[in-house]
Amino acid sequence: MVIGKYKDDIFLEIIRIIQSKNVFQKKMIKNELASRDSVFWARTNSFSVGFETLMEEYNISAEKIADCYIKLCKDMVLEQIKFKKTGKYSSNSFAEVADRVYHSKHEMEAMVYGLAMSQFLWKNHYGLFDYFIETIGELQESEEITNYLEVGPGHGLHLVESLKTFEAAHFDVVDISSISLDLSKKVVKHFVGSNVDVSFHHQDIRDYKGICSYDLVVINEVLEHLEDPLEMMKCVVDLIGNNGVVFLTTCANAPSIDHIYLYDSVESIQDQINESGLEIITERLLPVGHVVPRSLWKGKSVEVNYGALCRKKISE
Ligand SMILES: C[S@@+](CC[C@H](N)C(=O)[O-])C[C@H]1O[C@@H](n2cnc3c(N)ncnc32)[C@H](O)[C@@H]1O
Repeated sequence: MVIGKYKDDIFLEIIRIIQSKNVFQKKMIKNELASRDSVFWARTNSFSVGFETLMEEYNISAEKIADCYIKLCKDMVLEQIKFKKTGKYSSNSFAEVADRVYHSKHEMEAMVYGLAMSQFLWKNHYGLFDYFIETIGELQESEEITNYLEVGPGHGLHLVESLKTFEAAHFDVVDISSISLDLSKKVVKHFVGSNVDVSFHHQDIRDYKGICSYDLVVINEVLEHLEDPLEMMKCVVDLIGNNGVVFLTTCANAPSIDHIYLYDSVESIQDQINESGLEIITERLLPVGHVVPRSLWKGKSVEVNYGALCRKKISE
């Protein structure tokens, strides 16, 4: 595949391997990439530049990343089949998922490397990434972001965008998985360099005691991984200053091997945000699959990827 001027980058090399190993993915990726714009290709090229040096330093092959992505897709399909039958996610205990996924090098690597690729390859993951980049760009123009907290960075690609955007800020980063934190550290080093003010904390966010006046807290794709996301959101409300904002993404009706909390609709996400003491400033709703009218999403349990920028409610 030759796309634009970026014919030799590692992102395209990984795609070529995925397509050679999996016929379904070959078609899916071809269709997905056909409509992407020049901003997308500039972003994947920038990803390739950092990721290739990281892969070289740690001796990670393009084939390994391709296998991680294929495993992520297969796991997802199996979970979707189970979900269709039962209407439930297959795990409901945090301890079980922590044992099976967060503390397993094999599972965790497959997830974070797979998600690094799906960030660009899946329309909705990329849509939320785009919304994130757009939102932090606007925040950089309008707000003073001095203290930044990110929960569950996973592959670290959002963190990289934030480090590039809020150059003078202090960054705290919390993740329960050492594998995820290690990858985030490597990604920061290779994508942004060492001259950054970042503290990494290997901790459960529920036990994290931060400075209590963060200007921006980022929680992407973490809420659905918790038994009680409302409890966590309330902790986050206590961690932001009066003018602080929270950027979060999550999903409704989206089974995965490590999803625990089932939001059955966009409304249930919005209600929980509201109940936590936050109010929504902007949001992005991305339904998966065939077009179903918005009024029918809840009744038809449509899978939706969701993102929102929120602030503390002034008073009840
Ligand atoms: C699916 S990944 C999300 C990665 C990235 N933020 C993204 O948007 O793709 C979920 C991350 O949340 C972390 N995580 C899950 N539960 C957590 C908790 N209680 N405290 C801190 N991190 C947690 C996991 O280790 C993992 O890195």
